[in-house]
Amino acid sequence: MKTETRILLPVDLKPVLSLDAYKATGGIRGIERARAMTPRAVIDEIKKAGLRGRGGAGFPTAIKWTTIFEDPSPKKYIVVNGSEGEPGTYKDRYLLQRNPYKLVEGALIAAYVINAQQVFLGIKGKFKQEIANVQRAIDEMVKDHILAKGYMEIVPGPDEYLFGEEKALLEVVDGRGAMPRNMPPFLFGVRCSPTEYNPTIVNNVESMSHVANIMCNSPEWFRQHGSEDTPGTMIFTLCGDVKKPGMYELALGTTLRELLYDFGGGPVSEKPIKAVFSGVANKVMTPEIFDTPMGFGTLREAGGGLGSAGFIVYDEGASMVKVAAMFSSFLAAESCGQCIPCNRGSRIITELLRKFTHGTAQMDDIDQVLFECGRVTNQTRCFLPQEEAILITSIVKTFRREFEEYVKNPPSDPTEPPVPLISSFDENTHTFTYAIPKSFANFPVA
Ligand SMILES: Cc1cc2nc3c(=O)[nH]c(=O)nc-3n(C[C@H](O)[C@H](O)[C@H](O)COP(=O)(O)O)c2cc1C
Ligand code: SF4
Repeated sequence: MKTETRILLPVDLKPVLSLDAYKATGGIRGIERARAMTPRAVIDEIKKAGLRGRGGAGFPTAIKWTTIFEDPSPKKYIVVNGSEGEPGTYKDRYLLQRNPYKLVEGALIAAYVINAQQVFLGIKGKFKQEIANVQRAIDEMVKDHILAKGYMEIVPGPDEYLFGEEKALLEVVDGRGAMPRNMPPFLFGVRCSPTEYNPTIVNNVESMSHVANIMCNSPEWFRQHGSEDTPGTMIFTLCGDVKKPGMYELALGTTLRELLYDFGGGPVSEKPIKAVFSGVANKVMTPEIFDTPMGFGTLREAGGGLGSAGFIVYDEGASMVKVAAMFSSFLAAESCGQCIPCNRGSRIITELLRKFTHGTAQMDDIDQVLFECGRVTNQTRCFLPQEEAILITSIVKTFRREFEEYVKNPPSDPTEPPVPLISSFDENTHTFTYAIPKSFANFPVA
């Protein structure tokens, strides 16, 4: 039986509550080591480590940093993404509850590399405890002269899924709403103007925390954990129909089956596991690919995806038609409305799916859903409608029979499962509580 590999989380899971306690575990050595090297040499360490961003896409961190490092712009910024609003994911909050110091240290290393003007930490305003933890870490590091006063600032953000989209995040840092702008952060960063475009590095909380670890230890040490495809560990959120839902820090390369059965204890009832979703941005995963070693590339090649390692499990008792309607309505409600294909298309897809759950669908509505998924992404600003298209198309294609069955034998109960939007985790009982998503019930049935 595999065990957890805790290199981000404290080994005993006890929260690190002071800078002294952090230093006792080797903390702050990373920034000291980085500052003794050239910025280029620090990037080389991150490259050797093979760090891939933990915010969902697995983009190589060293490539992102190099682009901005080499940009001649005189002003550059760091923005950390601590917005965490995707269904099934709780890892960043969990990490900030247990060790906020790693994030602050990692962000300082990134700031050193690009000689950043300032660092902004975008964290959901409702994560009050986590904000207090990070603020305490900043204050202590200021007092200890590791960090200059006012250099690192927390920006509390709205309780919206789009707050985590990097172009929307920059808007929030600039004092506006969570509406994705057109240009990516490496072209137009925060505080930009017609003459200053201020390229900005955006990295996830967990990515930045790994940076501190890599610089404290070494790239070789980091690579000892994890796989060739995705070195290091990741904090997995496992929720839904398993016996032991929870938070597990595992080396990448662990298989999905090991996560579900060894750590999660297998299905919660006698019904076997039917489908697993990694958040809402990837294709549905079924038992044929459970033996795939988990990594950004390996899971993608197998037809699934790692995303932000938040896994939502359904057993054979779950209706995939209802699950599709639930995910679709979440995404439609979170669309900000700037792009017509996304705003209208995601609503149309939700309405079509709700025809199935309400027993009014015709057979050709199945292909109509697929057709609408094909055009919801037409010239849109951000990846949200792509998520809708990838996720819903995969559910309809994989479980087409269930959709046909809903047409032949309309269901008597249209109730959808809850959106697994996690608001807290109880360590003792291994249970998650879910938040109520916005405007979830407001979509009419066509
Ligand atoms: C709709 C949407 C929501 C997102 N939410 C988050 C989030 O909550 N946290 C996060 O780190 N990245 C999120 N992302 C990805 C970010 O846009 C960005 O890629 C990431 O923060 C980059 O960090 P990384 O390279 O360290 O992974 C989201 C993307 C989309 C399209
Ligand atoms: S694609 Fe959708 S969510 Fe993204 S900016 Fe456009 S309308 Fe908003």
